[in-house]
Amino acid sequence: MERGRSSKSHGATKTSRSSSNKTSESMGKKDKSSLLKDFFVEQLQDIYWAEKALVKELPKMQGATTTEELAEAITEHVTETQEHISRLEEAFEMMGETARAKKCEAMEGLIKEAHSIINETQKGSATRDAAIIMAAQKVEHYEIATYGSLVQLAKTIGLNDVAELLGQTLAEEKNCDQVLTQIAEGNINEEGAREEEGEQQMEEGNEGEED
Ligand SMILES: [Fe+2]
Repeated sequence: MERGRSSKSHGATKTSRSSSNKTSESMGKKDKSSLLKDFFVEQLQDIYWAEKALVKELPKMQGATTTEELAEAITEHVTETQEHISRLEEAFEMMGETARAKKCEAMEGLIKEAHSIINETQKGSATRDAAIIMAAQKVEHYEIATYGSLVQLAKTIGLNDVAELLGQTLAEEKNCDQVLTQIAEGNINEEGAREEEGEQQMEEGNEGEED
């Protein structure tokens, strides 16, 4: 049980650094802004991995939906997510960096959780749509937090064009989250609640009144 810090620690820079870090003492001390820039690039790699994982996952979520409305919203977000990936590639390019994906543990966890939330519900039910909305909103909130921070960081290090680019993605993530809320508020959650009542009735022996 080593107590060494992982290379993906949460930004706290202490005096000693691991030799695996590019910014070792042998290269001389980097100024604060380049340390922040390195951190920014690492976080770009992280969200790049996340977006690429999500673009593969969304069609599966879309395929599991019950209502057309939710299916359409997710399809729309697949297109947006492809654009988010392109914007990240553009951001790497603007910074003279190679677009590289670094595994995002958080997104991997959110996707795993999405599978279990969805699998716990019945195919073709409004409850399943409610579950998909919940799983998707957890993902959106993660992305909103990430892009919000990235936009701020980009401004801090003077990359205003990159900030502007990522700001567009941030706006789309927020919009997607709102659309999902509207769909949930619209009818899915209410229908889900009715399903529960229906189930109870069935348990009491009132079978065969569905559809
Ligand atoms: Fe995205």
